[in-house]
Amino acid sequence: MPQNNYIYESVKLFVPTANSQSMHIVHISAECYPIAKAGGLGDVVGSLPRFQNEMGNRSVVIMPMYRTPYLYTHEWDVVHKSSANLGHWFFEYTIIKESTSAQGFELYLIDINGLLDRERVYGYEDDTERFCAFQISAVHWMNSWEHLPGVVHVHDHHAGLVPFMMQHCYAFKRLASVPSVLTIHNAQYQGQFSWDKSIYVPQWDSWKRGMLEWEGSINPLASAVKCAWKVTTVSTTYLHELCSMSNGLEPLFEYEKGKCIGILNGIDYSVWDPEHDRYLDHRYAPSSLEKGKAENKALLCSQFGLNPSKPLMVFIGRLVGEKGADLLPQVIRDSFEFVGRRMSFLVLGSGESSIEHELRSLNEISMGDYASYIGYNERLSHLMYAGADYLLMPSRVEPCGLNQLYAMRYGTIPIVRKTGGLYDTVIDLGECHGYGFSFLHAAVGDVTQAIYRAVEFYHEKAFFNAIRQKITGLDYSWDRSAAEYIHLYKSF
Ligand code: ADP
Ligand code: GLC
Repeated sequence: MPQNNYIYESVKLFVPTANSQSMHIVHISAECYPIAKAGGLGDVVGSLPRFQNEMGNRSVVIMPMYRTPYLYTHEWDVVHKSSANLGHWFFEYTIIKESTSAQGFELYLIDINGLLDRERVYGYEDDTERFCAFQISAVHWMNSWEHLPGVVHVHDHHAGLVPFMMQHCYAFKRLASVPSVLTIHNAQYQGQFSWDKSIYVPQWDSWKRGMLEWEGSINPLASAVKCAWKVTTVSTTYLHELCSMSNGLEPLFEYEKGKCIGILNGIDYSVWDPEHDRYLDHRYAPSSLEKGKAENKALLCSQFGLNPSKPLMVFIGRLVGEKGADLLPQVIRDSFEFVGRRMSFLVLGSGESSIEHELRSLNEISMGDYASYIGYNERLSHLMYAGADYLLMPSRVEPCGLNQLYAMRYGTIPIVRKTGGLYDTVIDLGECHGYGFSFLHAAVGDVTQAIYRAVEFYHEKAFFNAIRQKITGLDYSWDRSAAEYIHLYKSF
């Protein structure tokens, strides 16, 4: 039995307050910052509900209870206990609610002993079982509410079976009339599993088999695209790309495009603002941008043995092909060879072991111009956004990308591939009103060429400083996007 610090004394009944003016929105997600985050999904689910609440709605989050530090440093009330089945396996689940709603929204964690209470979010052999049981519990619990929610908003494949369950599982018929929205943060991962495990989905109308299936497997993401009332993704360009580049789902997106829309992510300025950033020793406002960036750069360079007089290019992210991280070692070698030792590189990330290995071996040619931190480090990422001159994002796929938005807020100029949300948020300096560097292909030559342009630009000090100043003022706040989601919900 895990030793959690929540109290079993009061099993309160959850009764949502019905208010005709506001909407009751339930987000279901595998990640939510700062409780548990593996990438941008966590950032989005950790902030969007708060903005929806500030607009007068009641937006809550349901997620798995992992064993992350947040669990042990906050107080919890038990609001519901029940049991359900995952195929032939009977399990008990407990819903705990954060006592103070410290994140600006009601936060509910589902505790399933031995299944969800692990240290990492993903990467276990039984992830299919874990996320199926999570979704069953969430739907099972909602089905017992006296007042049903106004909309159930699911994120990515980990919650992708929820719309199907709400509509086609006999036990959850009460939820069949509740609108559901799917947001796709990343269509590369779809959570497929074989039909042998179809008993994991609580008894369902067998005529609806096609609503679960894609190419011979049960495909939670495809199922959600078919069953959700509306489908959103996190940028307009990525929405178009899904029809030609979505890891096998292209015909489905082509067919369903009538109900799909793109809503660009916002960023949470209460977390990502150099003036108030709790991770920074040297905070800075737009009026002290140059000084603030120089202080952070000096600190960063001293930590990693880099020369602060050279332009500093950083990469922050998952070390996977999707992010173009495999290109980095050769890009760095070629930059040193063809552009010269006129810049430094700092890489923060973790992911595929071959890329991690190659990045570590580059230390041999570092000579004070290259360093890496292989791992996940939230604090360091903030210092890097603050201290760098340029952020590199050679992504092959980038549904939205938050890094470039954070970087710009901190006065760090993005160097990006023209794809997905990067295309929508970064205009090349060569174009009218441009403020970044962009290139077409995820190829070493294209990236190196962009680096060359950026190095040259670094020495045009007045222009360089003006662009830095300009990007800190670009508005990517949540207000606009949060309103777009509400508008969408109200269309049902
Ligand atoms: P994705 O969700 O595809 O990984 P995003 O750009 O949307 O990409 O978001 C990535 C988020 O994860 C950002 O907040 C970024 O700072 C953070 N991040 C990624 N890798 C690391 C790491 N190794 N250490 C700290 N933060 C990281
Ligand atoms: C995904 C995407 C990323 C996006 C994030 C938040 O992980 O890869 O581009 O910014 O979700 O929506």
